[in-house]
Amino acid sequence: PSRGDIAQHLLRWYDANHRELPWRVPPRQLAAGARPNPYHVWLSEIMLQQTTVEAVKPYFRKFLEQWPDVESLADAETDDVMKAWAGLGYYSRARNLKACADLVAAGGGSFPDTEKALLSLPGIGPYTAAAIASIAFGRPAAVMDGNVERVMARLYAIATPLPDAKAEIRPLLETLVPSERPGDFAQAMMDLGATICTPRRPRCMLCPLREDCLALTRGDPELLPVRAPK
Ligand code: ADE
Repeated sequence: PSRGDIAQHLLRWYDANHRELPWRVPPRQLAAGARPNPYHVWLSEIMLQQTTVEAVKPYFRKFLEQWPDVESLADAETDDVMKAWAGLGYYSRARNLKACADLVAAGGGSFPDTEKALLSLPGIGPYTAAAIASIAFGRPAAVMDGNVERVMARLYAIATPLPDAKAEIRPLLETLVPSERPGDFAQAMMDLGATICTPRRPRCMLCPLREDCLALTRGDPELLPVRAPK
C-alpha cells in the first residue's frame, strides 16, 4: 500500500470513529471551515503530557470556565492556577503553563504557529510543539507519543527495541503525514493507539490499517513494539 493510502484509510476511519473530546473540533466542523482555538489545543496538550484523557477532561473544562483565554490566565494569580491544577500532578507543568501564558499574552495574545517557535516556550517540548503546530495550525508535523510509536512499530514491523526504535519510526511517520488534515491525522493515530492498536489484545479485525500492517501480515502485532530491558 502507498503512503497516501495509509493516511486515507486512517482519516476515513477517524471521520466515523473519532473520540469526542472537549478540546477537539470534530472533522465535520473542520471541513465546514471551523478553526481550532490554539489556546484550547495548547492547554489540553500540556494537561495530556503525563495524564490520561479521562482524568484531563474535568480539569480542562474547569480551566476554560475560570480562564477562557490566554490573557485571563496571564492575569491570574499563580496560587490560583496551582490550586486549580491540584490533582493533576507534575506541578512544574502548572508553573510552566502560567509562564507560557504570561509570555504569549505579553506578545499580543497569539500563539506562535510553527514547531520551532513553539519549542522556545516554557513547558513545550518536541511532542507538544508538533501537536500544537499540526492540530491548531495545520502544519504537517510528525506527532509522536507512546501510542503513535506502538502503531508505527506494528505497521512497519519494527523489531528494534524502544527507545532506539524511535530513530527509525520518526522518518517513516514523516512520510505518512498528509499535507491535508495533518491535525486530524495526528489525532487519528492517537485514537487508533488508544482504542484499537492497544498494547495488549489489539482489535486488529476492526483496524482501518489491517491491510497495511506488516506486523499483522507477518504474525502477531501484540509482540511489538519490543522494549529494551531496564
Ligand atoms: N493525547 C495527547 N493529545 C491528544 C489528543 N489531541 N487527542 C487524543 N489523545 C491525546
